[in-house]
Amino acid sequence: MSRVRRIGVLTGGGDAPGLNAVIRAIVKSAHNHGIECIGLEDSFDGLIEPNRSRLLSPKDVTGILRVGGTILGTTRVAGGAVARSKEVHERVDPVWRRCDAMFHQLGLDGLVVIGGDGTLAIAHEFSKRGMPLVGVPKTIDNDIVGTTNCFGFDTAVSFATDAIDRLHTTAEAHHRVMVAEVMGRYAGWIALYAGIAGGADAILIPEIPFSIDIVAKRLQAREKRGARFSIVVAAEGAAPKDGKRALIKEAAGAHVERLGGVGRMVAAQLEELMGKETRSAVLGHLQRGGAPTSFDRTLATRFGAHAVELLLRGETGQMVAFHPPNIVGIPLADVVGKTRNVPLDSDVVATARALGITFGDEE
Ligand code: F6P
Repeated sequence: MSRVRRIGVLTGGGDAPGLNAVIRAIVKSAHNHGIECIGLEDSFDGLIEPNRSRLLSPKDVTGILRVGGTILGTTRVAGGAVARSKEVHERVDPVWRRCDAMFHQLGLDGLVVIGGDGTLAIAHEFSKRGMPLVGVPKTIDNDIVGTTNCFGFDTAVSFATDAIDRLHTTAEAHHRVMVAEVMGRYAGWIALYAGIAGGADAILIPEIPFSIDIVAKRLQAREKRGARFSIVVAAEGAAPKDGKRALIKEAAGAHVERLGGVGRMVAAQLEELMGKETRSAVLGHLQRGGAPTSFDRTLATRFGAHAVELLLRGETGQMVAFHPPNIVGIPLADVVGKTRNVPLDSDVVATARALGITFGDEE
């Protein structure tokens, strides 16, 4: 018999479509195992401050499968300075003491932490100090190592693809170059997948520093072959070969740097170099909003149910991961502090190149 009777669940970091689907799966499968589920509000704040938690029954999660955001709330700042600190293991101690006390006060036997790299780094530190927990990888950026997919990514790519389709309309009608700036932080997954699915002519990603002259030449070559418009997809973290990433705000205190502006920059330079009307659109947080796709709903549900399963089996200190076709548990220690970037030898990059899509690196 498992000794797990009561578990907690929290969501940390930026919201991603599918968070509610994970919460729902955890609450329902826990309930069906006779386990109570406590929802903690606003990431680790719910485990630090009193009265920031509530019992979640299956009735409380009815109807949230298709709803974006998180019913528990989230924050990037809860323990944020800790999560982003290089000395996370040292700076986590004051937070740990309060969370550990609340964990026992709430009578919890286990915790499910749903979050991205920062949140999972805190979870790992807590796990090393003895808290029985399991992590669930969440981010539209798809940059968590050890899992081929994070939930939220498919929804973001679907939205971005739809947006690129719409930009095609204007590009074609006005014979323009249209630049779509997508999210993804330091990884180019959203740009790469949405770029291919949306039929882009150039895709700029952080993993491949670009030359704007090469991009312009490749688009002009398209024109010589008769094309009268072009579509460029730029990841927010993409940077020119001899330049820096575009930033909206530098990192300060507990806040990480805010990326943004590459789309506008690229559009202005292409207009100058090509002598052709060029416009840009920033897709921004629209990529994180709305209902999750069926893929993300299914993945999130499988993650949630598997997280409960791991807690029941006493397999803690793990993160659930998608290793197609299975959901597995992998050690959090193998995950934290790393970023899963687009491999340059990936067949997806090769496919793009085979189709004549430029990354701005080869003439
Ligand atoms: O990590 C997800 C993400 O949407 C990134 O793609 C983006 O850079 C960042 O979060 C934006 O964060 P915020 O919502 O805090 O501005």
